[in-house]
Amino acid sequence: MANIGIFFGTDTGRTRRIAKSIAKKLGAAAADPLNVNKATADDFLAYDALIIGTPTLGDGELPGLECGAQTASWAEFLPQLDGADMSGKVVAIFGLGDQEKYGNEFCDAMADLYDCVTTCGANVIGTWPVDGYTFKSSQAVIDGSFVGLALDQDNQPTLTDERVDAWLAGITPALMAAAG
Ligand SMILES: Cc1cc2nc3c(=O)[nH]c(=O)nc-3n(C[C@H](O)[C@H](O)[C@H](O)COP(=O)(O)O)c2cc1C
Repeated sequence: MANIGIFFGTDTGRTRRIAKSIAKKLGAAAADPLNVNKATADDFLAYDALIIGTPTLGDGELPGLECGAQTASWAEFLPQLDGADMSGKVVAIFGLGDQEKYGNEFCDAMADLYDCVTTCGANVIGTWPVDGYTFKSSQAVIDGSFVGLALDQDNQPTLTDERVDAWLAGITPALMAAAG
């Protein structure tokens, strides 16, 4: 089994594409990215090192049927982790959002992933600076940094590749160490 699990939710496919590009950059250490609408909690909890990605939809929400996404997604998956023990696991989060149209809730859904996995005891790595983005507020900002990598394919698509590379360079050693 590859060592680093990659799980994503998506509505229109952008988060899937980023997940695939992350897997490609990581090479053999990474598992094939899995859409959470096809994953079980056991699939997810099988990994000690995880990269998880989500767009923000609705009004600062996780993707899922309730906010009008085309399929079930993180909103339906996360409750399956209730009570799970993720202590000792390392998790890195990335999120897609639109800072111009949704500047009051930019990439908010990363905060929901963060809350869930930290409640389960996981160690979240890969915080990301807010410099280079223009937005009013985001629940995904804690102590002045995003809890994970914020990407904006609507307004800053040309910055994505270099952001992903810099983020991966920072988190890969800790992911590999956790994966064993
Ligand atoms: C109906 C709708 C609601 C959205 N709400 C938010 C939001 O609250 N915050 C945000 O940062 N981006 C929001 N976005 C932007 C999406 O997160 C962004 O377009 C993302 O790239 C979509 O990724 P996907 O193709 O993986 O679904 C919204 C987009 C749509 C279509």
